[in-house]
Amino acid sequence: MRPVLVTSALPYANGHIHIGHLVEYIQTDIWARAQRAMGRRAIYVCADDTHGSAIMLRARAEKRSEIDLIAEMSAAHQRDFAAFQIAFDHYGSTHSAENRAFAGEIWAAFRAGGHVAKRPVQQLFDPVEKIFLADRFVRGTCPKCRAPGQYGDNCDQCGATYAATELIDPTSVLSGATPVLGEADHYLVSIEHERPWLTAWTQAEGRMPRATAKYLAGFFLPEPLHDWDVSRTAPYFGFEIPDAPGHYFYVWFDAPIGYLAATQQWCDKAGEKFDDYWRSAEADIVHVIGKDIVKFHTLFWPVMLKTAGFSLPRRVQVHGFLTVNGAKMSKSKGTFVLASTFARHLDPTYLRYYYATKLGPSVDDLDLDVDELEKRVNAELVNKIVNLASRSARFVPAGLALPYPNDGGLFAAGAALADEVAAAYDGWDFAKVTRLVTGLADRANEAVDRAAPWALAKDPARAAEAEAAASIALNLFRQIVVYLAPVLPRLAGDVAALFGAPVDRFELARTPLAGTKLAPYQHLLKRVDPAKVTAMIDESKPAEPLAAAAAPAAAPAPPAGAPDDGAALAAEPLGATCTIDDFTKVDLRVARIVAAESVPEAKKLLKLTVSLGGEARRTVFAGIKAHYRPEELVGRLVIVCANLAPRQMKLGLSEGMVLAAGASGEAFLLSPDSGARPGMRVH
Ligand code: MSP
Ligand code: ZN
Repeated sequence: MRPVLVTSALPYANGHIHIGHLVEYIQTDIWARAQRAMGRRAIYVCADDTHGSAIMLRARAEKRSEIDLIAEMSAAHQRDFAAFQIAFDHYGSTHSAENRAFAGEIWAAFRAGGHVAKRPVQQLFDPVEKIFLADRFVRGTCPKCRAPGQYGDNCDQCGATYAATELIDPTSVLSGATPVLGEADHYLVSIEHERPWLTAWTQAEGRMPRATAKYLAGFFLPEPLHDWDVSRTAPYFGFEIPDAPGHYFYVWFDAPIGYLAATQQWCDKAGEKFDDYWRSAEADIVHVIGKDIVKFHTLFWPVMLKTAGFSLPRRVQVHGFLTVNGAKMSKSKGTFVLASTFARHLDPTYLRYYYATKLGPSVDDLDLDVDELEKRVNAELVNKIVNLASRSARFVPAGLALPYPNDGGLFAAGAALADEVAAAYDGWDFAKVTRLVTGLADRANEAVDRAAPWALAKDPARAAEAEAAASIALNLFRQIVVYLAPVLPRLAGDVAALFGAPVDRFELARTPLAGTKLAPYQHLLKRVDPAKVTAMIDESKPAEPLAAAAAPAAAPAPPAGAPDDGAALAAEPLGATCTIDDFTKVDLRVARIVAAESVPEAKKLLKLTVSLGGEARRTVFAGIKAHYRPEELVGRLVIVCANLAPRQMKLGLSEGMVLAAGASGEAFLLSPDSGARPGMRVH
């Protein structure tokens, strides 16, 4: 099978990942995992989209460098994705040397083809901030319907699109000043000469969802395509155009080029060849994007790739937008839920499953109804599926029955679905997968209920029958988990451990296990706790500044759904046994970080002042400079080793140690659950 390179859109570095974004990253991750489960090589790359005025202005407002800001956001994004078990082969950044080089290469190709024009462009200028204003930084009255307070690119009320210069009574979002009309030279690339080719390319069978292809054919392709303005004048955070000093590539020019750069970085890391993916007819490229960025991926991007001689995507998969409880995500309703907030309250497995039940091949919007999420996860995933195992595992103390008992054809019927399940995944119809699988679970439950191993087991003479009934239930359960593994990788990992047998290929659903001894059954999935759903929504509502400061909002998402693949343990095997006396010698305490500063002469260390409550303060130098910014640490509770002999360092006396997890190169600070107070001992 041809290898496939899969991408999701590169999230902007100016905001945190929220449950709307997760529709896309979960969808892509499921598809990539399903391809692998079919035996196909699938590489999933992504990156942060780091350039543009928004980042520049935010860095300015926070009085720090853009580099600092995007490094922090990249770490936060990757933490959020990991919590939702989204497993990239590589996660890069558009602010990289590789991306600069590819942008230069594509630019040179446009130049060489004679497709670049330089033209004065009129744009609104903020006389206070002294910068040209991107469309989103201007607000005013819609020139068509006169709705006030509309952005400079399109009207929320009537849907009209226009130039920012057409707004009535415009004001700058940045300074509130009335912008003035300015003029600056911009560089534009033409794409019109590729219109016949683009028409054929976009309309090719399977290139993109039908609705998207139709939309392009109806709106853009019948008319001449406008030249695309790909430059911005200084000040701008981005790459300076190599042969045009003072001019920068517009963020949307180098953003998709980030797909190339991320692939290059992955290749360097994995010892692979870039050309095997982006200059080869032997591999497929698949982009997954939201419907808001179709034009960039189906008009500009293909022309960029073609102009510079790169491969074109085999498919552009487009999804709709997320609404919550039937309405746009809203901060005041608490439905603008950040990924980290979700993961702090609920198991990310719930969201992966729920989204899978909602995702079909269409580009329609999808709704997250929190009551429905609770009901479906509890009714389908917990009661129907996980219960098959939890009700049966204890009746096979000697292992699964050998040979596999007669189950009236149930397992064979499930096995016969393997191709249909694979095809549904391949066709982006995850909702169909969940329907097929819950159907299997219904039949499996009927069979277990009929056989009632728990009743049989009460009679010692019928132990073998109990074992047979439970073995059937457990095998049907495992078959279901094989089919759902791309959706539920954490659960699948736990189930693989339970059976001591892999579940990561669809073909494993074809043969039942017999004679296998199970590992002790461990809880696989909890029911959704409605109180936690409420707490999550409450926490997502704008809080008073005081409450926000008290909440452990800066703490990274808990590792509820981090990949439990055993790599960390393998990399650092367990130490020698210690006695309880050894352990109690180490006095671990809860402490609050009351001050944190970066010491310029230390590359890796931050100087922390921690409070053990009351007046008890300690100075601790912690090797976490690369992972945390001082200001995000202040106020946090941590765990310190409080009776460690003080150590004189060049920078001063270190009077303890702050506990963190991870091998060298990573650091995840430990913190207690809420309620713990400084000075409490850790037992
Ligand atoms: N930086 C650009 C993409 C550059 S790709 C070369 C961007 N970033 S984004 O952070 O705004 O969005 C990233 C992806 O998430 C986009 O595909 C977008 O459609 C998707 N979503 C963002 N909010 C969403 C919802 N509320 N619902 C579903 N998808 C959403 O666009
Ligand atoms: Zn309007």
